[in-house]
Amino acid sequence: MANLAIKDGKPLLEGKTIGKSWPLYDDTDRQALIRALESTKWCCTSHQKQSDSEVGKFEIAFAEYQDNEYGVAVTNGTTAIEVALRAGDIQPGDEVIVPAPSFIATAMAPSFVGAIPVFVDIDPETYTLSPAAFESAITAKTRAVIPVHLGGYPADMDAIGPIAEQHDLLVIEDCAHVHGTIFDGHKFPVSDMGTFSFQQGKTLSAGEGAWF
Ligand SMILES: Cc1ncc(COP(=O)(O)O)c(C=O)c1O
Repeated sequence: MANLAIKDGKPLLEGKTIGKSWPLYDDTDRQALIRALESTKWCCTSHQKQSDSEVGKFEIAFAEYQDNEYGVAVTNGTTAIEVALRAGDIQPGDEVIVPAPSFIATAMAPSFVGAIPVFVDIDPETYTLSPAAFESAITAKTRAVIPVHLGGYPADMDAIGPIAEQHDLLVIEDCAHVHGTIFDGHKFPVSDMGTFSFQQGKTLSAGEGAWF
């Protein structure tokens, strides 16, 4: 691995830093903002071609960047999980398994659709959903699981995926912390659906916004 920038290596984002705050931006971002402003297409409507709006172009570009087929932009990462649950037909009273330590959104989204978030322990090595704890929490009411790739640490999808498949559960990966992360040669999500957030503090930020 190349020397880290703090050890005199070449900074990955050379020339990109403006000020000391996050997110970083440069002239490319400034131009993109002006392009969106001047297009006057500030929202996506059903009679608009996806490739006609800046948001539509982003939907296509981000899907390509994440090696996924397609995606839809939504208002924020919490809504992205909610929309994914609705798209997966999760109903009131259904149980949705979530890791106990995560941002509150992972558990709030199931409750927005009337489902019951069931908290499950994490693996102490990875801080992500424990496959064994996940399996033992499955009941007749379980319909979905939301593994979170927390802080860039990938959840053990090789173990979680087959357990979910065996019990016919929808898998929605909370990818809010893994934009561009490559693990074992692949990007995320690797299962049914994945949700990203572009909130202020995220690796790829638009202040807010999301994609699923
Ligand atoms: C793991 C995780 N999931 C979901 C979200 C929700 O994203 P948003 O704040 O865009 O609603 C966040 C945001 O902070 C998060 O950290």
